[in-house]
Amino acid sequence: NELKSSNAVWHNATVTRSRREKLNRHKGAVLWFTGLSGAGKSTLAHTVEERLHQLGCRTYVFDGDNVRHGLCGDLGFTAEDRRENIRRIVEMGKLFVDAGIIAFAAFISPFEKDRQRARERLGADYNEIYCRCSVEVCEQRDIKGLYKRARAGEIKDFTGISSPYEEPKRPELTVDTGTQPLQYCADQVIDLLRGKGIIA
Ligand code: PPS
Repeated sequence: NELKSSNAVWHNATVTRSRREKLNRHKGAVLWFTGLSGAGKSTLAHTVEERLHQLGCRTYVFDGDNVRHGLCGDLGFTAEDRRENIRRIVEMGKLFVDAGIIAFAAFISPFEKDRQRARERLGADYNEIYCRCSVEVCEQRDIKGLYKRARAGEIKDFTGISSPYEEPKRPELTVDTGTQPLQYCADQVIDLLRGKGIIA
């Protein structure tokens, strides 16, 4: 993307990320939940957020519901639009990390290339969590009735049906949201955060 604001000046704040992190008593990070529609990304993200909040952490969840209506309301589901969707969320995540917050991103993010870009841009702050759940289980759940509509040809480029989902190659964590209990999956995410020293 061409930078159209190259004359903009970045102000150096005296309140820095590390000072904010010290005040918060935890590190900033992005937890990137990827997986099929209906795999349980948002549910898991909100469950972990609730637990971190109770521990006194500053958190925020980005998901389709609060992002695709506003910031990314102009985007659809072509590969190009999904890439732009992910790019904007990554940039937002970068700001939240600088604010010392643990940001959760729950997006299908089906393309390895887009996730790779997110990893490059966020560096060590990027934590990929693959919510593994078969298409069969997601389709059986079909909470929003979208799989049925996709099968009927009413929704095009639907992930898992008419658009691919590329499985993560080396995620920081894989959770089996199709077969394991929610709280067990949440425990695994919390363990990851402790292991990486993001929370004490
Ligand atoms: S992406 O691929 O990361 O940009 O997608 P995302 O922003 O996570 O949006 C996924 C949700 O949008 C609904 N939806 C679709 N998903 C996939 N493919 C198509 N064509 C599509 N059209 C609408 C769907 O409800 C997804 O929901 P969840 O369950 O939140 O993933």
